[in-house]
Amino acid sequence: MKVYFFSCLTVLITLFGCATVPQEATVISSPDGSIKLSFYLTDAGEPAYFVMDEEQFIIDSSTLGLTLHDAAPLDENFELVAVDIEESDSYWNTVWGESDTIRDNYREMVVHLKQRTDPERQIRVIFRTYDDGIAFKYGIDYPGPKDTVRIVEEESYFSLIGDHYTWWQPADWDIYEHLYSSSPLSQIDATDQRNSPYLAQTYIPNPHAVNTPVTMRTDGGKYLSFHEAALYDYSGMTLVVDQQTLSLKSELVGGPYPWKVERVGAFTTPWRTVLIADRAGDLIESAMILNLNEPSKIEDTEWIHPVKYVGIWWEMHLRTKSWKYEGGEHGATTAHTEELIDFAADNGFDGVLVEGWNTGWERWIGFEDREGVFDFVTPYPDYDLDHLSGYAREKGVRIIGHHETSSAVTTYEQQMDTAFALFRGHGIDAVKTGYVGKIIPRGHYHHGQWMVNHYQRVIEKAAEYGIMIVAHEPIKDTGIRRTWPNFMSREGVRGMEFNAWSNTNPPDHETEVAFTRMLSGPIDFTPGIFDLKFEEYPEMGQVNTTLAKQLALYVILYSPVQMAADLPANYQERPNVFEFIRAIPADWSESRVLDGEPGDHVTIVRRERTGDRWFLGSITDEHPRSFSYSLDFLDDGDIYTVTAYEDSPGAHWDDDPYPVAIRSWEVSRGDSLMLHLAPGGGAAFSFTKK
Ligand code: NOJ
Ligand code: CA
Repeated sequence: MKVYFFSCLTVLITLFGCATVPQEATVISSPDGSIKLSFYLTDAGEPAYFVMDEEQFIIDSSTLGLTLHDAAPLDENFELVAVDIEESDSYWNTVWGESDTIRDNYREMVVHLKQRTDPERQIRVIFRTYDDGIAFKYGIDYPGPKDTVRIVEEESYFSLIGDHYTWWQPADWDIYEHLYSSSPLSQIDATDQRNSPYLAQTYIPNPHAVNTPVTMRTDGGKYLSFHEAALYDYSGMTLVVDQQTLSLKSELVGGPYPWKVERVGAFTTPWRTVLIADRAGDLIESAMILNLNEPSKIEDTEWIHPVKYVGIWWEMHLRTKSWKYEGGEHGATTAHTEELIDFAADNGFDGVLVEGWNTGWERWIGFEDREGVFDFVTPYPDYDLDHLSGYAREKGVRIIGHHETSSAVTTYEQQMDTAFALFRGHGIDAVKTGYVGKIIPRGHYHHGQWMVNHYQRVIEKAAEYGIMIVAHEPIKDTGIRRTWPNFMSREGVRGMEFNAWSNTNPPDHETEVAFTRMLSGPIDFTPGIFDLKFEEYPEMGQVNTTLAKQLALYVILYSPVQMAADLPANYQERPNVFEFIRAIPADWSESRVLDGEPGDHVTIVRRERTGDRWFLGSITDEHPRSFSYSLDFLDDGDIYTVTAYEDSPGAHWDDDPYPVAIRSWEVSRGDSLMLHLAPGGGAAFSFTKK
């Protein structure tokens, strides 16, 4: 266990420049000076660092390194060759997102190291400090262009100062669809979460480890989020908790080999990231993960656009329709798709997702042998793709394609070109992909290097065909939407579907998702269920929110591809409430978190990208809450009409979730807005300039 604890005295000495232990620490501070990161070599020549925010320790001295297959570890005997420090401050524009312009302001310290081995090996550790966090990655510089490097494990430590309260998911190598748990760091234990009956694939090798992003609150009132940025050609990182020393250590997702990552030639690893915030809401506002990614590699991004969609989807999860053609009522028929296209056109939606249109659904979930089963170009006989794509075009709507791979990944790769060409030829420019089941070839996991590379091949192939991707059962987002803006959204969360066929999502679920999963990027959560109790479907669960909270989720849970997930008939029954979903856009010029606390509540305002309306969403857990906000985000001197969709008095997520009070009045900047959220409730507001 290579974590060194220095007494406060030693650290003070170090900070004030006395050369004791550690010797020769080099420090960079963030642009505003609040966060300081120090690098040094231990007596054994191990690379090590520590991090302070406003003179408080965030990460105590922690060592860095990698262990390799058939080669000496890259962990000690290093000597410092050079340190380069530079500052960068720039702005860039998003293709779509929570805001239109992002400032990228950081200091970078590149530490060049030489290992005293024979032959000598050169590596770099690249550190960045931002005003809201720090990041580092390794540059493995010594291999020649044809040399193979096999990483057995990454040994990055994060030594924490205290038993922080933590919102976490188990380090499942195959899925991110667990409920969030919260506990002190020392009590993280996912033993009971192994073998969930609701997951088609799950593998939790270490119950004392977590997937990222993982969020913490320190006793000193800081909020931390650990994650990674720019994950390419490497395995996903989980974090193992040492319950005695309260340190985290990287543990990469494994696969069928004695090593976890294989690379040829020199390379850099993904960034390891720590957000550091005074307010929990600052974690959501941070753009650090995006800033650590490269600018868009897609030059012409004109074709990439936000999508609001409906679909042939929820009825399959309610089990009233089936994906497969025979042995149930097939959902994806020509006639039913036409109905959805009409509904989308009448209500201003851009797309209609159609699942179950292609052959192979007879042998998807629960079958061991899934290779060669799904066919991504052959529609079922009752689905007329040619006719429907024309019908949609006439109505100004597009079909959203669907590729459920059932994790038979090679079968999918073999057909990808023809499959994307088929869709493109029918004007389909967005495709939902899915990876239900254990990965074939066996021995690989959804979050290992082999699959990271597969998901990336899909994105690049889709970009060639002018297709946007929404992935389910994905690899986690690490901000690569900046570089590949056709990677619109992903699941990687316990979304709405779990309310249908599992033990359901509890009332605090979305307040946890907003401060954990959402820190990695857009979520295809599929909100907007109006029939919350499923009285017609007694075998199904229920949605544990009020109706007003379903509306608020459109503001809270950011996605540029946003679904209205319920059946059209349920929207037609409540046209006044549905009006909010019709009105809200899926692309923003500015987003602010007014306040919030993980697992309790959160309130977010967003300004639409192509206009000047603002939307406010607020959600709570099982407790009722009241808030008052100053409307100081509105433009000065203008009058706005605010329309409110709030829980009526007496509303309750379980006892009476439906009553929504809708009212409008005039407001201007500086006025205050009172909110009353029911237990499990929420509120949604639109502000339109007069
Ligand atoms: C699981 C996905 O999360 C869900 O949205 C989809 O309907 C099914 N797989 C079928 O692909
Ligand atoms: Ca799923």
